[in-house]
This record gives sequence, structure tokens and C-alpha cells, in this order.
Amino acid sequence: MKRRIAILISGRGSNMLALARNCGGGLLNAEVFFVACDNPEAPGLADAEKLGLKTHLLPYAALGKYKAEEHLDRLISDSRAEWLILAGFMRVLSPGFVLRRRGRIVNIHPSLLPAFPGKDSIRRAFDHGVMVTGVTVHLVDEQVDHGKILAQEPVRIFPGEPIEDLEERIHQAEQILYTRTLIHLLDPSR
Ligand code: GRF
Repeated sequence: MKRRIAILISGRGSNMLALARNCGGGLLNAEVFFVACDNPEAPGLADAEKLGLKTHLLPYAALGKYKAEEHLDRLISDSRAEWLILAGFMRVLSPGFVLRRRGRIVNIHPSLLPAFPGKDSIRRAFDHGVMVTGVTVHLVDEQVDHGKILAQEPVRIFPGEPIEDLEERIHQAEQILYTRTLIHLLDPSR
């Protein structure tokens, strides 16, 4: 039986697109029931529509966090989505929302947590001069970029490498690691 997933995005949506393709191609035994976004300008929203996915704009800007989360709650219960997959979603979910779905919300973060949580992680790791950074997939808890770590992939920073190249390699690593992690999380028999 295919797992029912919903994906939250705020921007480009490259992780969402990779997951949607891997669901469509059967690598991931799941179906994307909807993609929801807090940002009407997000390129990922238009791309999800082009792929034929159901999309929703969450009313964070118009109604604030709690109304937007109520809206999201309704979308999840109407679609009976089992898993909520955060893919570049730039809002912090409230503790109450997370508690209701504890263990069923997954996030990807572009650093080796617990190093460099929060925004601009790739740039901060680069500026700090670390030699190895990477990608983390984790369960979401009430703190930012904090829940149980499910998988990590190290990415070496080469001497003299421009940050743009590092960003590109991290995004490639993310797309592979997210699908690989979800294959097992959503269907532990695989
Ligand atoms: C990714 O680096 C992800 O790890 C972080 O936000 C970025 C989103 O990129 N949480 P995209 O929208 O999936 O292209």
C-alpha cells in the first residue's frame, strides 16, 4: 500500500520535485496528496502545479500562524495524509501542531546537525571554515532543526571551492538522501 504524504515548501522546491518524481517512478512507495506553500511567489508552487500535483497556499501572511496551521490541519485530515514532509519550509510549526503529529513530520537540513541549525547554514559552515559539512534528515520536534536524526550525509568542502559549487553539491546530496531515508521510514520492510 502506498503511503500518503504531503509536502510543505516555501521556495525553489528542488527537494519536493525530486520526491514527487521518485514517487511517480515507484522508487518511493508513496503518493504526494498535496503540496502546500506559505509563499505565493515560490517557484516550487508553480512547478508542482505543472507536475499535476494538488497545491495549496497556506494563509500565513493573511491570517497568521495559528489560522494557517488550522488550515493545514484540515488539508491533512481531508486528504488523510499520513506523513508531513518539510522540504525547504521556512516557517516554524507550533509545538501544539507538532505534538499532534509527533514522529510523523520529517525535515531536511543542509548541515550536519547539531552544527549550524537555522537559516543560511551552508554559508555559515563555509564562512566558519569547516572542512566537512553535509545534510541531515530528521524528525521534527518542538525545537528548530532539532528532532531525532534519521540520516546524515557528509559533504567535503574543497579548498578554494566557490560557495556556489558547494551549494550545488549539497542540494544534490539532499535529493538523494531524502528519498533514501524516506524509502525505509515510510516502509520499514524495504
Ligand atoms: C534545502 O537546502 C533544505 O535543506 C532547506 O531549504 C532548502 C530548500 O531547497 N531546508 P529546495 O526548496 O528544496 O530547493
